[in-house]
Amino acid sequence: AAVAGGSGTADGPAVIAHRGSSGIAPENTTPAIRAAVRQRADVVEIDVQRTKDGRLVNFHDCTLERTTDVEERFPGRASYRVSDFTWAELRTLDAGSWFDESFAGEPIITVREVIRLLGGRTGLLAEISPCGHYAGTGLPEQLAAELRSIPGYVDAALAGGRLGVQSFEVADAQAFHTALPEVPIGLLDADRPTEAELLELSTWADQVNPQWTVTDQALIDRVHELGMEINVWTVNEPGAMRRMRDLGVDGIITDFPQSLTQRG
Ligand code: G3P
Ligand code: CA
Repeated sequence: AAVAGGSGTADGPAVIAHRGSSGIAPENTTPAIRAAVRQRADVVEIDVQRTKDGRLVNFHDCTLERTTDVEERFPGRASYRVSDFTWAELRTLDAGSWFDESFAGEPIITVREVIRLLGGRTGLLAEISPCGHYAGTGLPEQLAAELRSIPGYVDAALAGGRLGVQSFEVADAQAFHTALPEVPIGLLDADRPTEAELLELSTWADQVNPQWTVTDQALIDRVHELGMEINVWTVNEPGAMRRMRDLGVDGIITDFPQSLTQRG
């Protein structure tokens, strides 16, 4: 079974909803997570950042302008980084209207809220934010502590193959791995990893998660030979989904999980 979800078997790759079902609802918000659960995605992928006062929230961009009304609500602020706002401030923002007016008022949600929405059945693939200002601030360790602090969560999720963590940053992935070694850890890569990189990764990582466009049979086979799994992103076209499935990837990260599950 693939990490955080389930497969690489006759069932086909794990279906991993990118920022929730972000093709049909505002990314990383409650409706996107709920849609992924309803559509029977195996796993929901989220983006972990930290507020000014230390809360872990689910938000992709380093700054708030693209997907919230922050400039209207807090005009003239010197910075619109997520990390420069308190949780109380962030919670007042509308993270839904940019996508469609029918989602007006949808708030930013915390990592804990995501886990509650997953309801113990749908898996979690949590990405540690690559935004540079978090480097060296203990974000991986805090995520590990947060997961551990939810009674029974890590053990139950691992038993079901429903938990993984990933990062574009080797240092962050390794820091998380050190803090919580039992949780599968993956390295995201926009480029095709070299043989030397794969060999090094195989000494500590469980997953190699490249962009689907750089992924071919040779890469998939090599990752598997080295005892790791491979989850590709972000695969939204049906033809590309079929191709990745037929090549034998372990997970497909997509904005449209329904295209793979045909449910909900
Ligand atoms: O999970 C893969 C994907 O999320 C990586 O890119 O920018 O969407 O976080 P990004
Ligand atoms: Ca991500």
